[in-house]
Parts: sequence; structure tokens; C-alpha cells
Amino acid sequence: MQYPDYRPRRLRKNENLRRLMRETQLSVDDLVHPLFVTFGKKVKKPIASMPDNFQLSVDYLAEEVKKTKDLGIPAVLLFGIPEKKDEMATGVFAKQGIIQKAIREIKDKVPDILVITDVCLCEYTSHGHCGMLEGNTVDNDTTIEVLADTALSHAEAGADMVAPSAMMDGQIYAIREALDEKGFEDIPIMAYSAKYASAFYGPFRDAAESAPQFGDRKTYQMDPANADEAMREVTLDVEEGADIIMVKPALPYLDIIRRTREEFDLPVAAYSVSGEFSMIKAAANMGWLDEEQAMMEATISIKRAGADIIITYFARDIAKIIG
Ligand code: PBG
Repeated sequence: MQYPDYRPRRLRKNENLRRLMRETQLSVDDLVHPLFVTFGKKVKKPIASMPDNFQLSVDYLAEEVKKTKDLGIPAVLLFGIPEKKDEMATGVFAKQGIIQKAIREIKDKVPDILVITDVCLCEYTSHGHCGMLEGNTVDNDTTIEVLADTALSHAEAGADMVAPSAMMDGQIYAIREALDEKGFEDIPIMAYSAKYASAFYGPFRDAAESAPQFGDRKTYQMDPANADEAMREVTLDVEEGADIIMVKPALPYLDIIRRTREEFDLPVAAYSVSGEFSMIKAAANMGWLDEEQAMMEATISIKRAGADIIITYFARDIAKIIG
């Protein structure tokens, strides 16, 4: 292949040719839409750092989920903001907890959409860490028991899939065991396997009111510099029983998505996190870039890198374009 015989521009001459040559297609089938559920009634509180996203009370939730479903999106991912937080995160596995109520409401009003739940403690602990404290450190082995109880309570409320995001060692094993023991062998686990300690979670922590009250998450979430370690994390989760493996965030970790795709034979999810969304929104708001084009380009890059499933706050906007 050599110029002047080969001229790549020949196949880019017009949009029909470009359509024919396009290697990657985004589909609404790939998308998961995250939602924030809060306590109280008739609450639809805008999240300042995440335009078009809201904290919704349970009574307003079904309407939003219905809109998502009507756009053809197959799944929502739920995050809860409980009325009370405490040291032990007791709200996280309560039968009348915020997520448990939210699941029942959706299953009742909009049965035909998948309900995936985030399984973590940070929104429920007064200290904002993802696990139980022992002094000033997050204790792994007591935390995974609470995570297992939480996943089980979600399954009992009717969740279709659980997504543990606390980055505790052995969490997938503990959850799989707890689910199987109670007859929930058919509930899949989407494991946040390679989850990095990222600045891009900033807007989410406003949305979910889950910022750590001291320190940071670097003793459990991964160092952004590490790639081989991500493969070890994924291997562990696969061996412990993960059904879907996730890389998070997405855009700054496209190489990790690609490696995961190549090295493992399980479906790969990528979480395009709050900061990835907000930076495009903010720049577009300033008139510095075209929002629609930037959104589509960023999202297709995640698919091209190898993700089968993309969790994104742009899910509805994308569905409106390609749906
Ligand atoms: C809970 C959790 C977080 C996100 C998803 N699950 C926050 C964190 O780890 O601090 C971030 C999602 C986003 O930024 O959109 N542990």
C-alpha cells in the first residue's frame, strides 16, 4: 500500500461512503442510564455540577425511568441518598432503605426495564468511605459482609443485577456466595473490577453526597498509573464469579478497556463517569466545543476501545440521536 496508488481519502469523499466504511456503531442496546434516588416526596432537585441530572424522590422515579425505557434504553443503574447516614451504614441493607423502595417502585410501575443497583457504602456512611472503619482505615473483611447483605437486600427487593463498586478484596466472592445461598443464582454481578481513584468522580460526589469526610479512597481504589494491576483485579473478579467486568472511569482508561477486552472472555462494561459528562457539558456551555459532537465522539471511543456496555449520563441524549 503506497501513495500514489493507494489514497485513503478516496473512501472519505462523502457521507454515504463514510457510512459504508464505519467500523464501530453505537447502539441504544449498549447503554445504561444512571439515576440518583433520594428520600422525601415530590423531590426533583437539580444537581448543579451535572446539568440535566436530578436527585429524584421515589414517587418521581417511575416517570423518569419510563422516559428512559421509551427511548429504548435497556437498563438503569440506581444510586441512593438515604435520609440518615451513620458509622455502620445501616441504611444500606434496610428493607425500607431508599434503594430497596426504589427497586420495588420501578418493578411495580415500569416492569420492562432492567434495574441494576450500585452496591457500595459511601452514600450511607457518615464518614463517606466505601466501607466500615477500624480506626482510620477501611476494614476489608467486615465490609464485604455488609456488601453481601446489601446485594442480597437488593435482589430480594427485585433488582435484576448488582454492581459492587467498593473495591474491597473478595467482595465478588462474598456477594456471589450470599446470593446463591438464598436462591438468587440467576442474578448477575457486574463487577467494578478496575476502578481507579479518580478526580473525575467529583461531580458524582455532589450528586450522591458521598465525598469522604477525611482522607481519600487511595487505599482501596486503584492508582491511575497502573495497568498490569488492573488485569490482576479483573482476574480476581472473574475467578470470584463476576459475570460482567467493568473499567471505570472510561475516557482516561481506554487502554485498560482495550486490554480487558483482549485478555478476558467476558462482557466488558465501561463507566463514563460524572466528570467525563460534566467537562463536556461545561465546555459546551462556554461555547468552547460542540456538545453533541463531543458526546458522540467520546462515547464511540469507549465502544471502539472494546466496551460492550457503556454506562453514561449521556444515555438519553445519545438515544435521541441514534435511537
Ligand atoms: C460509589 C461510586 C462512585 C461512583 C460510582 N459508584 C463514587 C466514588 O467511588 O467515589 C462514581 C460515578 C461517577 O462519577 O459518575 N463508590
